Amino acid sequence: MLHTAQDLNEPLIPAAGTLQACPAYRGLQAHYNQIHGQHMKDWFRDNPNRQQEFSRQLEDLYVDFSKNRIQKDTLTLLMQLAEQRGLKAAIEDLKTGMPLNNTEGRAALHTVVRMPESAGFFRDGRNLLEARNATLWKMKALTETLHSGLRTGFTGKPITDVVNLGIGGSDLGPAMVCQAMRPFKQNMNVHFVSNIDGTALYECLSKLDPETTLFLVVSKSFHTQETMVNAASALYWMQEAGCDNPEEYCIGISANPDAMTAFGIPKEAQLEMWEEIGGRFSLWSAAGLSICLSVGWDHFEALLAGAHQVDEHFFHTPFLQNIPVLMGVIGIWYRNFFHCSSHAVCPYDQSLGMLPAYLQQLDMESNGKSVDKHGNRLSWASGPVIWGAAGTDAQHSFFQWLHQGIEMTPVDFIVPARSQHPLGGGGHHRLLLSNCLAQSRAFMTGRTQEEAAAMLRNAGHPTEQVRQLSPHKTYPGNRPSTTFLLKELNPYTLGMLLALYEHKVFVQGIIWGINSFDQWGVELGKQLADELERARSSADSSTLDPSTQALLRQIEEWTTASD
Ligand code: F6P
Repeated sequence: MLHTAQDLNEPLIPAAGTLQACPAYRGLQAHYNQIHGQHMKDWFRDNPNRQQEFSRQLEDLYVDFSKNRIQKDTLTLLMQLAEQRGLKAAIEDLKTGMPLNNTEGRAALHTVVRMPESAGFFRDGRNLLEARNATLWKMKALTETLHSGLRTGFTGKPITDVVNLGIGGSDLGPAMVCQAMRPFKQNMNVHFVSNIDGTALYECLSKLDPETTLFLVVSKSFHTQETMVNAASALYWMQEAGCDNPEEYCIGISANPDAMTAFGIPKEAQLEMWEEIGGRFSLWSAAGLSICLSVGWDHFEALLAGAHQVDEHFFHTPFLQNIPVLMGVIGIWYRNFFHCSSHAVCPYDQSLGMLPAYLQQLDMESNGKSVDKHGNRLSWASGPVIWGAAGTDAQHSFFQWLHQGIEMTPVDFIVPARSQHPLGGGGHHRLLLSNCLAQSRAFMTGRTQEEAAAMLRNAGHPTEQVRQLSPHKTYPGNRPSTTFLLKELNPYTLGMLLALYEHKVFVQGIIWGINSFDQWGVELGKQLADELERARSSADSSTLDPSTQALLRQIEEWTTASD
């Protein structure tokens, strides 16, 4: 029997408290051994109710889990695993704001900032939503002032362009939402610059007029190198154009008011972020100002409302009907039993082109961990690689690998039934939908070598060619996918979709026993970048490793050369 590296790492007697020690884990292993050789095609043939049994609907979102390598017993066992790993209590802790982020001693309050204005969330007798509402009203007022043209630049002309300077969660979520919501765009152009590579800022600013531009400096910490360097260059660009007080044409969004003040941003132009909202959840907070400016206040509210609806569903729905719980446990099934190292996300919607990049941060920054929340090394796999791209483009790049590559990778298809765009009604959208559905069907059914041979024979190929070509035209099938069908992509359904993924990541983090709310893994690189900068400034690189020293010498040679 072939063993995977994973099997070989698993101790024969799992230590107490490990994932493998859970009775349900052992049950799942036995169940996996029993069913992993079976084909989904046969399951569909044998069970006419399979599609109904494995699909769920929440308002305008229909999720079809039926093309996954799961049977009824699989879900029963996976739900037992979730129970045994404490998911019920963890959901309650998330709902009530317990300090789930133990390494930073914080709660995770992203579900609180998307509660309705009239709701209450009390901590030490204080309604936290009062502060949140005050920020929302400030955001609303700013949005209205800017949209009405009342806010002007340094020569008195109305602001026409806003540049969001931020990175990670202070950029990706808002940028992805603005792109997804382009059909709802208002009379304000919103741009995003994140990279420290000056090309990004240059390309953005070279199209803009400093007299009609406003900057949003978005950084929870207000220390992030990329954002602070971009902000400093943006101020310089304004100064060069004759503005004496460029800080006044910035809005600061941060959990660090002192740093905003030190930067020169007036108090009334500061918006508060909360320490308890992790960077990757920032879009729901004041960092969502770019979204408000791009698509208007009502649409931002609808986005929050859609996410809140999913929070309610997640908090109150039994596990077997609970969509994020199902997404989470099915992901565990593939990661820990099928040993799938990656998970692809393919939105069949051009507007959702940035979704895979956004989900990379959400998922990989949350669950890319190799110690549990107590610091013990994990003896099981945790977060997979998240990747993907919009269909149908993706069909012509990596789908070959998904269909016929050696590895099996689960795929999420996300597709709206109605198009956002008028051309969508003109046949484009119909074809887009057909392609999406055909791909998930092809992954599931595959094509046997006999079927391939018959197809070639029917097309008139001679026998020798049939023999040679049929292995290449064979598809293993039995490749899993989940289809998320939206009635249409709008701010509300987008909010729902994003919250579903957030809770999926949470479910998986709890089952893996990790803290999904910290991101220490990004710190070392930041520290070493600072160290390198210091070494370069002092022209003493003797403390660096030989590889880095050699690279620096080569850079020096090429940057000081006169040619
Ligand atoms: O990449 C690490 C990280 O801390 C992310 O979690 C965060 O979204 C990003 O940096 C930006 O951080 P900040 O908002 O503090 O600038």
